[in-house]
Amino acid sequence: MIERHSQTDWNEAQPTRRALLRAAAGVAAGTVAGAGHAAVASAPIPLGSAAEIGAFRADSRYRAALKRHCDVVVPMNDLKWEALRQDRSRFDFSGADEIVAFAEANRKALRGHALLWGEALPAWAKAMTTRAEAERELIRHIEVVVDRYKGRIATWDVVNEAIRWEPSPRQPYRDTIWQRLLGPEHVEIAFRTAARVDPKARLVLNDYHFEEPVADAAARRRIALDICRRLKDKGIPVHGIGMQAHLYAEKGIDVDGVQRFMRELDDLNLDVEITELDVIDWKMPADSGKRDAAAAALVSTFLEAVVAVKRPKAIVTWGLTDRYSWIHETFPRRDSARARPLPLDADYRAKPMLAVLERYRAGLS
Ligand code: XIL
Repeated sequence: MIERHSQTDWNEAQPTRRALLRAAAGVAAGTVAGAGHAAVASAPIPLGSAAEIGAFRADSRYRAALKRHCDVVVPMNDLKWEALRQDRSRFDFSGADEIVAFAEANRKALRGHALLWGEALPAWAKAMTTRAEAERELIRHIEVVVDRYKGRIATWDVVNEAIRWEPSPRQPYRDTIWQRLLGPEHVEIAFRTAARVDPKARLVLNDYHFEEPVADAAARRRIALDICRRLKDKGIPVHGIGMQAHLYAEKGIDVDGVQRFMRELDDLNLDVEITELDVIDWKMPADSGKRDAAAAALVSTFLEAVVAVKRPKAIVTWGLTDRYSWIHETFPRRDSARARPLPLDADYRAKPMLAVLERYRAGLS
């Protein structure tokens, strides 16, 4: 079983910004051996992947890839309400327990995904009608789930995708059953309950569409910071923001915007984690070599933007191999070419994206 302090060790292993600046200054002055980019040893960043239960059960190569490439494992779907709560009165932990046991047996850390989300809900939850009912179910859910994995799942995506696609300060939240029945308080209830049940857990606000060079993404970053600031002002613990980072190959990265976001997170004393990294290549040319090169370059641009200001606590990809990915169905290509969103191809061969990620894992970037 994984010891909780192993997670703490990583956290403590993160260098301060000053140390990074010192290292960079050393390179500039030619004082670091080799004096090249690769000579700057930084603290390694743990890498991880979400594990999809069907592939996990059926494909031994998938399990081998998780063992080899991951420091962190995330049950992809098995901690969602839809998996745990088909039956309103009985929790089904079978899938989650399998992946948690695998992670523990292989000394991997775990992230829990996700305690509150407007999607992946069983029919009965979508049909809730009163505030009291929603509050009772939400609190009970978080109590049961967080308590079961207390001391084992060190980090939780407490609230997932709560921010509206085009948010405004007056209308920051997505229209979900939680927002409809509980209003903005749904976020507070979730964080407060998770903190009460496992006071040592790291609690994260997870969301997407933070990194694109468009006004909506900037608005979403502002709202995410506002939500965390309000939680902190009320004394409710929140430890970080998760950037899902489903990166659109055709859109590029707002490097300045991302870096500003990192500084604002620093100012609020919040961590950043990259939680669902993959590349949406639906608009890219079919040639697989070109697509893989473009995907690696995009991931590198994004991670460099982040890391230059703030080292993420973890970098987690949403799967490992192009053999299994939600991108195929959710962002289908017009031609018949297979999507290539992940660091390993459909036959588990390393793609250029893996080399980019491995540099962070090795502390070379
Ligand atoms: C996706 C899974 O990858 C799919 O297997 C599932 O069918 C639907 O959900 N944002 C999230 C993730 O927070 O939970 C989603 O995962 C992808 C988008």
